[in-house]
Amino acid sequence: MYNITVIPGDGIGKEVMKATLSVLDALNLNLNYTFAEAGDECLEINGEPLPEKTIQLCKKSDACLFGAAGETAADVIVKLRQEMELFANLRPVKSYPGTNALFEDIDFMIVRENTEGLYKQDEEKYTENGAEAKRIITRQAESRICDYAFKYALKHGKSKVTGVHKANVLKKTDGLFKKIFYETAENYKDKGIDAEDFYVDATAMYLITQPKTFEVLVTTNLFGDILSDEGAGLVGGLGLIPSANIGENGALFEPVHGSAPDIAGKGIANPLAMLLSAVMMLNYLGETEEAENLDKSILKVLKESKNLTPDLNGNSTTDEMAEAVKIELLKLNKSYI
Ligand code: NAI
Ligand code: MG
Repeated sequence: MYNITVIPGDGIGKEVMKATLSVLDALNLNLNYTFAEAGDECLEINGEPLPEKTIQLCKKSDACLFGAAGETAADVIVKLRQEMELFANLRPVKSYPGTNALFEDIDFMIVRENTEGLYKQDEEKYTENGAEAKRIITRQAESRICDYAFKYALKHGKSKVTGVHKANVLKKTDGLFKKIFYETAENYKDKGIDAEDFYVDATAMYLITQPKTFEVLVTTNLFGDILSDEGAGLVGGLGLIPSANIGENGALFEPVHGSAPDIAGKGIANPLAMLLSAVMMLNYLGETEEAENLDKSILKVLKESKNLTPDLNGNSTTDEMAEAVKIELLKLNKSYI
């Protein structure tokens, strides 16, 4: 049995979570859900966006599923990542059939440092002349994320890791990141993993002009956040990009998108980013066969293109698309019934 903390959150977070849990119900797994509150609604009801109870539940569970928060996102998800020490943020960018992907065969992983950089909120403050934010780069955190990226490449049969930075301007902070990146690369040279580095602005262009050349990218917090939304644009939108936040003692899986107030309540959010986040969770838990079956079922629904939400030019609802995935899953393994 796995203890899973489920935080639906706000807006479409609640809608895609409900749809995802209904699909997971069809698996041969004993997933024990504990629901927890966080986000804008939680702030209204409890006076705080991320109650201590939610943090403790997350820390105790085998894995967490998170939908999306609204305006409180920074106080919820950024804080949870720090509280749980989820140092690695994995954001896969993959083109699927039946989508608005700009290119076929895109398949790369963005490995984003998740605990420091410009996102250390306690280092941001008003000053006499305006405001300032501090960019924190520590040897420990950057070595850990670079090593994670190279290990990921090794484990998944990739041949290259790209380090992304702006060391020509941010000479000390990103200078250190670049140095650590190449020091780490040395340990993987004889294991067949190549290393290259680009400036973040050039990377933003290369992602569009030569996306197929990327395999694994590793970068600091803010750059990783921006490049992963660019990645989403490359493969047909935020409704398709899942993510994993991994630490030594816990993990949290969430779609990259937010609460999407423009479509919330209409029942038309694409559930796949959340469902693909669940696939990442199953892989993390070691349930690779169930993960593969769920992944295959999603692919089948996309290929057939009969049950797609409006963001993918279809006219199905969130629940109809999830139901179609569930039907494929049941076809794959009759024992799921
Ligand atoms: P967003 O990701 O919520 O939406 C951006 C655009 O993508 C919208 O047009 C939306 O309709 C569309 N979209 C997103 N997910 C979709 C899905 N599953 N299916 C179909 N279309 C989808 O980002 P936005 O608009 O910048 O922020 C909205 C709220 O979400 C804000 O309050 C923000 O703070 C919060 N947010 C929370 C995040 C989190 O909880 N991790 C991450 C990003 C934003
Ligand atoms: Mg983002």
